[in-house]
Amino acid sequence: MVHINIFDTTLRDGEQSPGVNLNQLEKVEIARQLERFGVDIMEAGFPASSQGDFESVRAIARTIKNVSVTGLARATKSDIDIAWDALKEGLEPRLHIFLATSPIHMTYKLRKSPEEVTQLAVDMVSYARNRFPHIEWSAEDATRSDLPFLAKIIEKVIDAGATVINLPDTVGYSTPEEYGYLFRYIKETVPNIHKVVLSAHCHDDLGLAVANTLAAIENGATQIEGTINGIGERAGNAALEEFAVSLTIRKDKFPYTTNLALKEIKRTSDLVSRFTGMSIAPNKAIVGKNAFAHESGIHQDGVLKNASTYEIISPELVGFKSNHLVLGKHSGRHAFKDKIEDLGFKLSDAQLLEAFNTFKQLTDKKKEVTDEDLFTILTDIQTTLLDIKKYELQAFQVQYGSANLPTATVALTTPEGIRVETARTGKGSVEALYNTLEALIKEEIHLTSFNLQSIGQGRDALAETHVKMTVNGTAVSGRGSSQDVLEASAKAFLNAVNRVFFNNKAIQTAMI
Ligand code: KIV
Ligand code: ZN
Repeated sequence: MVHINIFDTTLRDGEQSPGVNLNQLEKVEIARQLERFGVDIMEAGFPASSQGDFESVRAIARTIKNVSVTGLARATKSDIDIAWDALKEGLEPRLHIFLATSPIHMTYKLRKSPEEVTQLAVDMVSYARNRFPHIEWSAEDATRSDLPFLAKIIEKVIDAGATVINLPDTVGYSTPEEYGYLFRYIKETVPNIHKVVLSAHCHDDLGLAVANTLAAIENGATQIEGTINGIGERAGNAALEEFAVSLTIRKDKFPYTTNLALKEIKRTSDLVSRFTGMSIAPNKAIVGKNAFAHESGIHQDGVLKNASTYEIISPELVGFKSNHLVLGKHSGRHAFKDKIEDLGFKLSDAQLLEAFNTFKQLTDKKKEVTDEDLFTILTDIQTTLLDIKKYELQAFQVQYGSANLPTATVALTTPEGIRVETARTGKGSVEALYNTLEALIKEEIHLTSFNLQSIGQGRDALAETHVKMTVNGTAVSGRGSSQDVLEASAKAFLNAVNRVFFNNKAIQTAMI
């Protein structure tokens, strides 16, 4: 059986999804989970794109010790130098360098001739080779490139020292038959192609990303790239969970192996969805909440008689648990600790204490605390910097009546530790609350998106709010959860604002 290497780009191409803005702690948590999922390579970011990205890539390279960590670079010496600084402490530092090869990109974007592009690609790969043991070279927009030109430039970058050649369908334009042909052509035409790994990287603009990825491995690719939940630029990238399960369920057609642990799919998907604020469509393959639900009576009857009538994938295969122990008021510290380990969390003693206290407060209001509730509480605790100076909610009150003007009164402590209070009105409760918060916070805030959903079912379910805003011109997102929708909304607002302090702190640490 041919082995396929899995290259995850959730933290780079995935993070390029509009409005997604992960902080360093969230990125490191996702990276840890990707390691458990069993990816072979993870692209942690684009170090030269911002100080924050540099810091996150460096933190991930330092933390992750069983997976090769890579970072993206344009074809410039300074991008390569910055990437080296971010990646050098990692296991097998790996550079991912790209340059466009299609006539459209070379003419309009790069304004370079094919000869100039070839020279630049060769020069930059040779430059990077002095440092990096592994270099992946991507021919951006490969699927709209002239094939003989593509073959020539690939031959030259392999001679210059590239160890992986990636052929991205950057704009999601290809069909499976065309994409498969591209790999066959390159394998048959480039004389030194046996020296490198061939990689597939597909976007989903026509909904063909996973189908194209499967076509690539049938035609010689031994590395594939994708993201969790298929997040990414525009319509996103190939969804890794869909690819992985396709190989397992259709091994008759795809005799390939990977190092992936499929039972980690659900947790990985939940973590990415929660941190990015990109909820998963209920009908999404593999991880959507309806993916294993049978609605029609005929289907239910069939499944009860024999699950294989309408079920090709068992939910347990990808980590959905059917019978989980629910915690409640009388659950002690021991049961709580066992439970959180079972849910895949490793917390410090301080985090554990905070988690237990939050759990106990919740049991005063909610009879049963579900896995989903715990996942929400624990991910929040895991990704909160405890020692950072920030805005903190002390108390709030909202008055609403159908005949009155909604009014909110809020008390906060500022990052300087000063208590401030005020009240404002709005057309609805959330607007009144947000107007009040805005009046108390010195930063310049523009809210661009607000989303509210319930975690689990029942009238006592937790509420979760996701917001996007600009704070002093910087785009940030925030989330908050609580049993009360207004408290969840206030927390999300402050979580977004406080990210500015988090980023500033990360930058200051980087300068030291
Ligand atoms: O889609 C693409 O072309 C990319 C490159 C940077 C590899 O993401
Ligand atoms: Zn891409």
